[in-house]
Amino acid sequence: MNNITGPPVTGDDFFGREKEIEFIWDRINKGNNFIFPSPRRVGKTSFALKLLDEAGNNGWQTVHLNLEEVSTEQDFIEHFIIKLTNLSWWEKRKEQGSAFIEAFKSIKPKFSVAGVKVEVEWQSNKKNIYTQLTDLIDHDEPTLIFFDELTVLLTSIVNSGDDGKKNVTDFLHWLRGLRITAGSKIKWIYCSSVGIENFTHRHGISDTLNDAHEYALKSFKPEESIKMLKLLSDTKGLKLESGITKAIVNKLEYCLPFFLQIIFDKICLLNAIDNLPLNIEIVNIAYNDLIEESHFNTWVERINEQYDDNKDQAFCVLNHTCQAKKGVKRKNLVNVLSASASSPEKAEETVSLLLYMLRNDGYLMEEGGLYRFRSPLLRDFWFNRFVK
Ligand SMILES: Nc1ncnc2c1ncn2[C@@H]1O[C@H](COP(=O)(O)OP(=O)(O)O)[C@@H](O)[C@H]1O
Ligand SMILES: [Mg+2]
Repeated sequence: MNNITGPPVTGDDFFGREKEIEFIWDRINKGNNFIFPSPRRVGKTSFALKLLDEAGNNGWQTVHLNLEEVSTEQDFIEHFIIKLTNLSWWEKRKEQGSAFIEAFKSIKPKFSVAGVKVEVEWQSNKKNIYTQLTDLIDHDEPTLIFFDELTVLLTSIVNSGDDGKKNVTDFLHWLRGLRITAGSKIKWIYCSSVGIENFTHRHGISDTLNDAHEYALKSFKPEESIKMLKLLSDTKGLKLESGITKAIVNKLEYCLPFFLQIIFDKICLLNAIDNLPLNIEIVNIAYNDLIEESHFNTWVERINEQYDDNKDQAFCVLNHTCQAKKGVKRKNLVNVLSASASSPEKAEETVSLLLYMLRNDGYLMEEGGLYRFRSPLLRDFWFNRFVK
């Protein structure tokens, strides 16, 4: 198992999550669709790809489309159709499909040349294009379709102009129509690093996605984490005594595979370049180096980009909470926000909303009436960046 710190992992580099794969795959097999909404680097893409493997092994067709590479509906259709042409059932639809592609191409190439006129042409043809595309899709063959980073495309559709909101609503209704087609053997997985629930809620279109189940990926238990560290060190030919692997797990507490990968990587570097011996002290040094680095910027960006009007208060809550290892009471947070809120009721309301969102998004957890950071690593990074 290779030490990979960033891109999705596949094959032997994918570790664990057996029960989660089995559970979700069983539910997909029984007709459910899923959304995996978690911050970046929690392991969504790797997990979804593993499910596609599982589907493939069970004779399903699979499609993987990364919507981060797509910024308009036209782009989406173009990319999607290319994926569909690779499926075995495309043969059956070949003639109809080729006609569709020709018709679509006849509007598409003009886009780069003629702004407004072409936009009008697209708008007047759009409904027809989606209807034809719907007719092309074969619901009789078991097929698992995975759209990665769905909210990225939804956000760029919303921001595309005056009709943005209507366009994104129509698009989500179109997707929903495909999902709820009677007897359909197509199942869907959507991943989103950007809060999809916040997005649909903010635009008043939660009903367009509420038929898909949400599943938030779990962190690894201590014994799993130790096993993963052992496999990583075997590949590297590094001798990590069990005292060290235990110390890593104790230090991280909340063991996302990505956190295990980056601390392992850091330990290798400290050992190879700085000649630090492999003892418990190297774990502390690696940890302290990590909280100074940029691995957690994405957690800051998520607040900046997704918390809208509550952004400042979210920072306020997190800045306050990161100073208390054992956690803070809700009442304290209300007091902290009262200074900037228009009324005590408003502060109460904002704290409720933020605690809900911050727990959903994996920042905070609650235990015995105290709220604290789920991950000490993230807490210490936060303290370093915003409080110290
Ligand atoms: N099952 C896993 N086994 C080992 N490492 C993993 C696993 N899942 C995620 N990772 C680690 O997390 C990183 C990001 O994974 P990825 O699937 O791209 O996350 P996301 O899609 O949530 O951003 C990988 O480069 C790897 O370091
Ligand atoms: Mg991903």
